[in-house]
Amino acid sequence: MIPRNCIEGARTGGQAVEDARSIRDRVDACLERMIEGSEAMPANLAAAMRHALLAPSKRLRPVLLYMIADPDPDLEEAALTLGCAVEMVHTASLVLDDLPCMDDARMRRERPSSHVAFGQATAILSAIALLSRAFGVISELEIPAAARTRLAAILSDAVGQNGLVAGQEIDINGRASLVGEHEIENLNWLKTGTLFVASAEMGAVLADMPEDRIDHVRRFARHLGLAFQTADDLLDKSADPKLIGKDVNKDEGKATLVSIFGARQARLTCEEHLAAADAALISSGVNSAPIQALIAKYFKSKLASDAG
Ligand code: IPE
Ligand code: IPE
Ligand code: MG
Ligand code: MG
Ligand code: MG
Repeated sequence: MIPRNCIEGARTGGQAVEDARSIRDRVDACLERMIEGSEAMPANLAAAMRHALLAPSKRLRPVLLYMIADPDPDLEEAALTLGCAVEMVHTASLVLDDLPCMDDARMRRERPSSHVAFGQATAILSAIALLSRAFGVISELEIPAAARTRLAAILSDAVGQNGLVAGQEIDINGRASLVGEHEIENLNWLKTGTLFVASAEMGAVLADMPEDRIDHVRRFARHLGLAFQTADDLLDKSADPKLIGKDVNKDEGKATLVSIFGARQARLTCEEHLAAADAALISSGVNSAPIQALIAKYFKSKLASDAG
C-alpha cells in the first residue's frame, strides 16, 4: 500500500497554492517512506537508493505536477505520490546517465555519483529498483482504475523506447545524426522534454481536466523541457560545479545548441521556448502564478550565472 501518512503536516485548509519549497519538502518526506525496504533488501542496495533519491534536488518535476494538479485536499496525497513516481524515474535516469559508459560523471546532487559511491553493479541495480518502484506506487494509488492506468501509461511512454531512453541512446551513440537545430531539439525533447510533459500531463489527468486543456498543458511542458535542457547545456559550459552540485564540461564532443550555435543563440532559443511555454500555460487555464514564479526563479538564477 502507499504510505498513508505522506501528507502528515500538510495544510488542509483552503486551496491556496503552496510555494515550491513546501511542496518539495513534502515530496522529500514522501520519497523517504516510499523506498522503505523489507528485511530481504540488502543494506547496500537500500543505501544506494537513498543516496541517489534523497540527495539534494530541485524536485522540479514533482513540484510542477503538483502545481498543475492544484489538488483539493482529497487529492493531495495522490498528487504527491505521482510526483514521487516521476522523481524515482528521473533519479534512475540520472544514476544511469552518470555511469562511465554514459557521461562518466563523478558528482551528482552534491554527492559522489552512485557508481563512485557503490560501484557500477549496485548503481545499475538501484536504478532498476527505483524504476520498478515508480510503477508500483502508481498501481497502489486509491483513485479510479481508468485514471490509474492512464497515469502509468503516460509515465511508461515518457521514459521508454520512444522517450527518455531513446534520447539517451541518441545522445551516446547517435551523435552523427545531430546535424542541425531540428535534430538537437528532437534529442532534447526525447531525453528531457518527455518527462517534463509526463509530469505536467499527470497533474492535469489527476485534476480531471478536459482534453483541450490537457493539450495546452502538454504544449507548455514541452517548451519548458526544451528550455530546461538548453539551460542545462549552457550551465555545462560555464557553471561552478559546486553551485550546481554536479560535474561540468561533460558535453565535450557532443552536439548541443550551445556547441553548434553558440551560447548567445542557445540563450535566445531558451527564451523563445520560455515565452511559448508561458503562452500555453495561460491558455491551459491552470493557476499560472506559482508556476510562473517557479520558472522565473529557476531560469533567472541559472541563466544569469551563465557568463558564456
Ligand atoms: C538534471 O535534471 C538532468 C537534466 C535533464 C538536465 P535536474 O536539474 O532537474 O536535476 P535535479 O533533480 O535537480 O538533481
Ligand atoms: C541528461 O542530460 C538527461 C537525462 C535523461 C538524465 P545531461 O546528461 O545533460 O544531464 P546532466 O547534465 O548530467 O544532469
Ligand atoms: Mg547525458
Ligand atoms: Mg549527464
Ligand atoms: Mg547536462
